[in-house]
Amino acid sequence: MLLIKDLKKTFQNGTKALRGINLTVNAGEFVTILGPSGSGKTTLLRSINGLENIDSGKIVFGHRKIDNEYISYVQKKTGMIFQEYNLVNNLSSINNVLSGLLNSSSKFLSMFYLFTHKQKLQALQSLETVGLLDKAYSRVDQLSGGQRQRIGIARAIIKKPILLLADEPVASLDPRAANLILSLLKKICNEFNITIICNLHQVELAIKFSDRIIGLLDGSIMFDSSTKIIDTDYVQNIYREDNKGLTF
Ligand SMILES: Nc1ncnc2c1ncn2[C@@H]1O[C@H](COP(=O)(O)OP(=O)(O)OP(=O)(O)O)[C@@H](O)[C@H]1O
Ligand SMILES: [Mg+2]
Repeated sequence: MLLIKDLKKTFQNGTKALRGINLTVNAGEFVTILGPSGSGKTTLLRSINGLENIDSGKIVFGHRKIDNEYISYVQKKTGMIFQEYNLVNNLSSINNVLSGLLNSSSKFLSMFYLFTHKQKLQALQSLETVGLLDKAYSRVDQLSGGQRQRIGIARAIIKKPILLLADEPVASLDPRAANLILSLLKKICNEFNITIICNLHQVELAIKFSDRIIGLLDGSIMFDSSTKIIDTDYVQNIYREDNKGLTF
């Protein structure tokens, strides 16, 4: 469902964040991207979603190359999940979830809660999927970190995306909440056949929950392997101090 070919991205200050990424992701796959800080994980997710202008290469979503015309469709079909949840703190859970139906140009509508009955039912359904129906009318700043991230997931799935991009969704959570969030993502991936690309730092979680792990180092893919055959020590190598000289 996603094909990335020779993707390169240089920032204005000269930083080469992506140095020719080649990647194919199949529909319904749960793919983890691992790699040390600065390796390009966030830049890769943002490039897929059109949030970064790329230097060269192409990204094919479905069967069409992403260009200026197609990107709004891609964004409509893609949900984003963030490390710091990016919720509006003084709003209720349900209103945060409903905001997932708005595109950026109509964000102001959320201030007036101009949502239809059907949309509110959709929001309640998403809250049920993440197990937080009983918190629909609680303010999100009264929820725990794990619960907030579940609201973040509900907001991402309300528009029925075919791709979810999660940028370190469990980095701010304790191990138990992290496990819960990743099992929820896995359930969503399996039940709704949503493709997931998830940036993580925890090797054990990547192996436990995803189908495939891609190791990124200094803007290049170092390995791309099914979790069925991968071993933890091999993957940990990417976090070693002397990783630059390693071959995977
Ligand atoms: N807006 C920007 N301007 C300049 N350089 C940037 C910008 N954003 C990222 N970079 C640089 O691009 C490289 C890749 O950054 P990126 O944020 O994609 O890494 P990451 O793998 O997500 O790291 P982390 O694990 O810390 O989140 C880094 O060297 C970073 O400093
Ligand atoms: Mg990052």
